[in-house]
Amino acid sequence: MKLSIPIKETIEKRHSVRTFESKALLPDDKEKIISYMKTLSNPFGSKVNFHITERGISDKGEKLGTYGVIKGAKTFLGVSIPKNELGLLAAGYEFENLILYATYMGLGTVWLAATFSRDSFSNAMNIDEKDIFIAISPIGYPSSKSTIQEKLMRKTMKSSSRKQWTELFYNKNFETPLTIDTAEKYATPLEMLRLAPSATNSQPWRVLKDGNIYHFYITYKQNISEGEAMIKQVDLGIAIAHFHQTLLEMGLDGKFEIFKQINTIPPKDFHYIISWVDKK
Ligand SMILES: Cc1cc2nc3c(=O)[nH]c(=O)nc-3n(C[C@H](O)[C@H](O)[C@H](O)COP(=O)(O)O)c2cc1C
Repeated sequence: MKLSIPIKETIEKRHSVRTFESKALLPDDKEKIISYMKTLSNPFGSKVNFHITERGISDKGEKLGTYGVIKGAKTFLGVSIPKNELGLLAAGYEFENLILYATYMGLGTVWLAATFSRDSFSNAMNIDEKDIFIAISPIGYPSSKSTIQEKLMRKTMKSSSRKQWTELFYNKNFETPLTIDTAEKYATPLEMLRLAPSATNSQPWRVLKDGNIYHFYITYKQNISEGEAMIKQVDLGIAIAHFHQTLLEMGLDGKFEIFKQINTIPPKDFHYIISWVDKK
């Protein structure tokens, strides 16, 4: 489903916010977020559960909650999923849609999949014990100045930059980079994908264009933990949200499909996930 907000401009505006004014969401803003949550869906047919809780994190940061990474926020969103094949993609897709809506409202957010206390937020949000608890995000009014710790984090992860097209997008085979010119009408959806946030800004998504088909891969080394591999799928769900919502905004159409076989052999550490077939 196409979101009711300007997508490209919101994607370009979004960045992570970790330092907030010390107040909870105003009732009107909270109501808007809750109503919007209820309208969200994903193209993978998987159930995604959203949560919201008020929880005080002081100006100095509360160690138990977010290990001091988040300052000032009082309201938090959460996302969990029942175990399901495409659930991780769906969680990334839907939660990013909610984050984009919050950005459009002028609110600050940041995906947190590592630096938060799962136990304490799981209790506060009443997460079903059968669910996989994916991530949370503070939601609130960005403070005019960010902390030294936040600036340092952004610098270490190079949060304001992204990999080049040549490293992310390929045409017909993995030896040929896809250029903006050859991507034609898909240049903008791919560029919006490139701006997606990812855990530690690792940008694990890769795309192979084969005519009107776009195959999505994630890259990771075989020896990473199961938890880390799961987050790569969430990262791809986020990137696909940017890609899909942008193409919907442009009036393009098509469908997601999982191919049994793709003739092009990917480089080592590329893992195929799903494809987009443009209707033409
Ligand atoms: C799935 C996911 C998990 C993340 N987990 C954390 C986290 O645990 N702690 C944190 O401070 N930032 C976390 N981030 C934020 C990323 O570091 C940030 O999105 C990235 O550096 C790019 O910066 P930007 O969002 O400002 O574009 C996460 C982002 C994603 C997408």
